[in-house]
Amino acid sequence: MEIKYLGHSAFEIETGGKKILIDPFLVAVPDYKPERIYDIFVTHAHSDHLGSAIEISKQTGAPITTIFELANYCAKKGAKVNGINLGSSLSYSWGKASAVPAFHSSSTPDGMYGGCPCGYVFEIDGQVLYHAGDTSLSSEMQLIGDFYRPDIVMLPIGGTYTMDIEQAVKAAELLGASEVIPMHYNTFEAINVDIGDFERQIREIGKIPRVLKINA
Ligand code: NI
Ligand code: MN
Repeated sequence: MEIKYLGHSAFEIETGGKKILIDPFLVAVPDYKPERIYDIFVTHAHSDHLGSAIEISKQTGAPITTIFELANYCAKKGAKVNGINLGSSLSYSWGKASAVPAFHSSSTPDGMYGGCPCGYVFEIDGQVLYHAGDTSLSSEMQLIGDFYRPDIVMLPIGGTYTMDIEQAVKAAELLGASEVIPMHYNTFEAINVDIGDFERQIREIGKIPRVLKINA
């Protein structure tokens, strides 16, 4: 399994020649070309997460898996969708995904109710990956840690709209994963952080900070 960071909270994950996209807001990678995309996951309706999901679905035929209300919105705009809700565990040709709670809000770029926000737990190639979406720190993370046993977690660290570094460090403890990938930081001023601070604090709790370079 290969994890590529496309900036903000966007990732491309590849396994066995198949790729999935998570929260494809792609302003940091204008030259990105979606190829061999099998599935697209969107955590909530805010434009910095929905991003180019609808366009990429129409272009590639890959369905968008997302919360029911947002899935309906995407379907109306011509995307293929899998409407899900919290508690859903879906099997795919490349692995499995489960929708888990995120504490945030969710409205579409044109102001429609987007359903509840979520995070995703992916099981791919025997590894468990958790993408938190936009969320506050919450005790749900203890349960996600106990139940899914994630190996790698992707956590927002930028503050203002989500957890900040200090809260993400506590989240990493609750989740119990060995590797922590930071996201949702340094895209714009309100979420600027010192990434060295994150690396130091994650090492202090005995975990591996995995700061990925943005790479199309
Ligand atoms: Ni958001
Ligand atoms: Mn966001």
